[in-house]
Amino acid sequence: MKRLFAEGDVQRQVRRLAREISRDFAGREVLLVGILKGAFIFMADLARRVAFPVKMDFVRLASYGGGTESFGKVRITKDLETSLQGKDVLIVEDIIDTGVTLKYLFRRLKARRPRSLKSVVLLDKPSRRKVRFQPDYVGFTIEDHFVVGYGLDFNEEYRNLPGIYVLK
Ligand code: IMP
Ligand code: MG
Repeated sequence: MKRLFAEGDVQRQVRRLAREISRDFAGREVLLVGILKGAFIFMADLARRVAFPVKMDFVRLASYGGGTESFGKVRITKDLETSLQGKDVLIVEDIIDTGVTLKYLFRRLKARRPRSLKSVVLLDKPSRRKVRFQPDYVGFTIEDHFVVGYGLDFNEEYRNLPGIYVLK
């Protein structure tokens, strides 16, 4: 494994995202929607850095086929427990790769009539995109590497690493 971002780099980027988001959502209450499991650490840190009141909920998604890619078919295996109607909602995700997962969730949540719907990802691999989706906030833009740590796993391992590593 090769270190891509040290813990300090990650935390600096989380603080930067929190500042941007806090500016845009000033005076609102925001529902953070984390995508399990990968986003749980990023969401925990981000939630503690933003300057507005938040509520939090989680969804769990599964993509058919398994492995390291989403093959274009996604479904919700654990839904939100909160109504989105009239709320300012921010989807929190660890990484966007093909874009299939976020595009699917965005469309499903939009149909529930939130007042606004935005997304933040810690990592973006734009060269891998298969469907058009641009998150509103991006921490790091990276090359086509498989990365682990800070919530991201390979076969459920490495989620607890405080930095981000390229798996070889
Ligand atoms: P997408 O639907 O292809 O954008 O995939 C998003 C999901 O794939 C993420 O939520 C991750 O679970 C997983 N994923 C994509 N790239 C990586 C990676 O480099 N490391 C760990 N998981 C990844
Ligand atoms: Mg994920």
